[in-house]
Amino acid sequence: MPKSINIESLVRENIRKLKPYRSARDDFDSGLLLDANENSLGAPVRNSLHLHRYPSPVQNELRKKIAAWRGVDFENIFLGVGSDEPIDLLMRIFCNPGSDSVITTPPTYGMYKVSASINDVKVKEVLLDEKFQLRTEDVLAAADESVKLLFLCSPNNPTSNDLKRTDMLKLIAAFPGIVVVDEAYIDFSRQESMAALVQQYPNLVVLQTFSKSFGLAGIRLGIAIANPEIIQYMLKVKAPYNINKLTADVALQAFDAMDLMKFNLNKIREDRQYVAEQLRHAEDVEKVYPSDSNFLLFKIKNAEEVYRKLAEKGIIVRYRGNEPLCENCLRVTIGMPDENIRFLKTLKEVLA
Ligand SMILES: Cc1ncc(COP(=O)(O)O)c(C=O)c1O
Repeated sequence: MPKSINIESLVRENIRKLKPYRSARDDFDSGLLLDANENSLGAPVRNSLHLHRYPSPVQNELRKKIAAWRGVDFENIFLGVGSDEPIDLLMRIFCNPGSDSVITTPPTYGMYKVSASINDVKVKEVLLDEKFQLRTEDVLAAADESVKLLFLCSPNNPTSNDLKRTDMLKLIAAFPGIVVVDEAYIDFSRQESMAALVQQYPNLVVLQTFSKSFGLAGIRLGIAIANPEIIQYMLKVKAPYNINKLTADVALQAFDAMDLMKFNLNKIREDRQYVAEQLRHAEDVEKVYPSDSNFLLFKIKNAEEVYRKLAEKGIIVRYRGNEPLCENCLRVTIGMPDENIRFLKTLKEVLA
């Protein structure tokens, strides 16, 4: 591993020099609070969260809960508006628009490329192999001077599988920039999270989210786990009050309901197996790929037409046939048990 890696030298100069926005709340959060031009008479709707006040800019209570859950320190945790915010912030911290680049490994989550385009950052694409695993040598060969970030996604969307841990470790150790491992689906996988490894690898950023295993996509809460130096840059660049009080409150409540969360995870894993088996027996289905996530990717004859016909009958899945290595592939999320049955039944009708 590149022990000599110097995070500061990878950061854009303007970000290194940036003086972040500071409010009085960074220093005081109690007393007669007449500092922030809030409406002291309160909101016209009842609430117990003091919603007329700005939320904590640092969210330490929630960060501590998440850190304990993932076995890291709270200084290793950044909270963002979904995972999309940390993806964008990493581009803005490390990539000079117009000259720097990132590496992605398609077929993979589309937001890395969109975020790069928004930030005027080039994308070098190194395809996965036919088993949807990393071509580590090709990735390293593509890592020229302009490349600042490498995005890995494990379990990967849309292919649904884990990337091999040994391959990821090899890249984290040898890559000359920041390696971002997106673990949005990690709790559905048998593989262990890489979160704890941020203590060991200064160039590793692990992304997680409340949108999948916690079933809280609606609150928009994403997590970046990394060494404190990177977290400090993220805190410096984010909008001052990015995590709102309603979101933080629900996320804290979720930690009191971990048994139900784990129960649901197991149920989704079981149902995933059931849907996969049924799909394997369905006419025209040529392959159901092994899944470590809460969705399945399958290859089916005339996928685009099947996708359209399913939609006409009110069943919305995702057509992924335009992605490299995913010709004629559809992606389906594991639903409620009755929804899975409705999907399978409708598919049968469409294929009849
Ligand atoms: C791999 C991956 N990362 C991140 C996200 C987005 O997560 P969030 O809802 O936290 O923005 C998704 C959403 O589908 C995803 O598939």
